[in-house]
Amino acid sequence: MDKLIITGGTPLEGEIRISGAKNAALPILAATLLADGPVKVGNIPHLQDITTTMELLGRMGVELVVDERMNIEVDCSTIRELFAPYELVKSMRASILVLGPMLARFGKAVVSLPGGCAIGSRPVNLHIEGLVKMGADVHVEGGYIHAKASRLKGAHLVMDLVTVTGTENLMMAATLADGTTVIENAAREPEVVDLANCLNAMGAKVSGAGGDTISVEGVDKLCGTHYDVLPDRIESGTYLAAAAITGGRVRIKDTRPRMLEAVIEKLREAGACVEVGDRWIDLDMKGSRLRSTNIRTSPYPAFPTDMQAQFTSLNVVASGTGTISETVFENRFMHVHELQRMGADIQLAGNTAVIRGVDRLTAAPVMATDLRASASLVLAGLVAEGDTVVERIYHIDRGYESIEEKLAKLGARIRRVPA
Ligand code: EPU
Repeated sequence: MDKLIITGGTPLEGEIRISGAKNAALPILAATLLADGPVKVGNIPHLQDITTTMELLGRMGVELVVDERMNIEVDCSTIRELFAPYELVKSMRASILVLGPMLARFGKAVVSLPGGCAIGSRPVNLHIEGLVKMGADVHVEGGYIHAKASRLKGAHLVMDLVTVTGTENLMMAATLADGTTVIENAAREPEVVDLANCLNAMGAKVSGAGGDTISVEGVDKLCGTHYDVLPDRIESGTYLAAAAITGGRVRIKDTRPRMLEAVIEKLREAGACVEVGDRWIDLDMKGSRLRSTNIRTSPYPAFPTDMQAQFTSLNVVASGTGTISETVFENRFMHVHELQRMGADIQLAGNTAVIRGVDRLTAAPVMATDLRASASLVLAGLVAEGDTVVERIYHIDRGYESIEEKLAKLGARIRRVPA
């Protein structure tokens, strides 16, 4: 397994381009199952989760053509198997996103239940309950969800809690249903909006995405289109945090600052000077030390759980004491124990971490446990004294395109050591 070796102590400087959003690309690739003609998806990030999705679609018999710029053309006319096997779903939970489209378009789907993961139990009960309300016949057997429906029917769905992929799955299923579906307490994440825009480009009638009530008027069929995925707000936030923790100055390009308002506000509170343009964000620490911030994660537009681990690392080296409360997932603090091994002063009590900033971190061998936890360890490595070795970086390759190349371009001393 590859490792990253990071020699801390260099302030990041320069500019980098942000890739397409993983969490928009994954549902959009699943949505291609709904279209009668080929769909070309552009600005796809080069990531392990994308490769897994392509493998999943490929095993179903779907034809995929990738060009050198990572535009993927998907043609579902050759689909043979309406099946998502455990071995792929367990390595990427977002595989559950093929359930709604397969059922809506082909009337049948067999998809493995994802099971728990490193950040919590993460059930998919709301995906299933929504489909049942739309008339699907669903049962779980042998670890698999078996779903059938001759044609789904529009329904009024009030979600018990805000779920991103749950909203996406049901929104996709509703596009081909008979009648109108209303999803209340829907997720408002920009990736949900991007998926809705793509579905509308395919001929769907989705309105209200970005608000908490989404309305979908079912149509008889969807057609092929060309759609470019929006930029990755979590990758954007991670590089801003990397610049902040090293006392650096960077510009990130091809991003959308409006999607990052909660994160930018906290970076400013932490002492960073942040300026935004239409598609860029500049961050400059101007020689000042980071200040601790108090963070509470919540669904969009509040502070994202996917930036929680990175801000834990910022607080670890900031002046003062800060608290981080995680309200979205029940077990998303695996990075804390690794950061403690580098000298961090963190007390965990339930879903809150109380962090007293320290003056220095020391390098240690550390282990990545999930995607965003890995990012927080890389951030800590960028300021620790000595060589930090981050193991199990396959987690990071799931969600950050060429992280060592982008950080090296900003002056970081980081290298990948192949297994
Ligand atoms: N939940 C249920 N029942 C359900 C669905 C969700 O109880 O049927 C609970 C979950 O257990 C969790 C909460 O609802 O406690 C919110 O989970 P959500 O369903 O919104 O998460 P997700 O859709 O599985 C997506 C992202 C995650 C991101 C979360 C929250 C994708 C592919 N994944 O997951 O991204 O953390 O929303 O914003 O969009 C990442 O990129 O590192 C990542 C984990």
